[in-house]
Amino acid sequence: MIYGDDGFGEADHFIRGYRIEDAPAVHKIEQECFDGDRYPLFLIIQLGEIFTNSFLIAGRGTAVVGYAIAVPDGNRVACGWILSIAVLPEHRRIGIGNQLLAVAEEHLRSRGCTEARTTVRPGNIPSQCLFRRRGYLQSSSMSDYFGPGEHRLLLAARLK
Ligand SMILES: CC(C)(COP(=O)(O)OP(=O)(O)OC[C@H]1O[C@@H](n2cnc3c(N)ncnc32)[C@H](O)[C@@H]1OP(=O)(O)O)[C@@H](O)C(=O)NCCC(=O)NCCS
Repeated sequence: MIYGDDGFGEADHFIRGYRIEDAPAVHKIEQECFDGDRYPLFLIIQLGEIFTNSFLIAGRGTAVVGYAIAVPDGNRVACGWILSIAVLPEHRRIGIGNQLLAVAEEHLRSRGCTEARTTVRPGNIPSQCLFRRRGYLQSSSMSDYFGPGEHRLLLAARLK
C-alpha cells in the first residue's frame, strides 16, 4: 500500500502502511510532537500489532516523518476514529498532515464508516485548523479529559 502524489502538489512524500521496524521512528515522532501525553514505545508496538491496516506512515526519502492511526469504533459500526496524527516539526506545512488525514479517511470509508471523529485539545490550533479545513466540526467537549484543566474537544465530520 503506497499513496504517492495524489493531487496535493508536487509531493516528495508518500503514505504507506506501518511495519514493525517503524515503531522506534514513530516513538521519536511522539517525543518531538507531543508535550506530556506521548504514546510509549510498547503501546506503539501493540497498536501496530492490533491495527496494522489502520496504521499509516508518512515517508520522505528514506525518513519516517509522520504517522496516523484511524480505526473503526468497536461499538458504533458507522463511526471511525482518527486516534492520532503527527508530523515532525521540520516537515510541516507542506501538506503531509492533510495527506495522512485524507488517506486515513479513505481507510475508514473502506471499512464502512460514514463519520470520522477525533479528539483535540482546545489550545491545539494547528490540529484544529487541519481538521476544520477538511470539514470537521465540534460535536461536544469534555472537561478535564487530559487531566485537571486539560479539556477535550470532540470533532466530527461526515465521510462523503
Ligand atoms: C497538526 C499537524 C499534524 C499538521 O501537519 P502538517 O503536515 O503541518 O499539515 P499540512 O501541511 O498538511 O497542513 C494542512 C492544513 O492544516 C492547517 N495547519 C497546519 N499547521 C497549521 C498551523 N501551524 N497554524 C494554522 N493552521 C495550520 C492549515 O489549514 C493547513 O492548510 P494550509 O497549509 O493550506 O493553510 C502537525 O502540526 C503536528 O504534527 N502537530 C503536533 C501533533 C498534533 O497536535 N497532532 C494532532 C493531535 S489531535
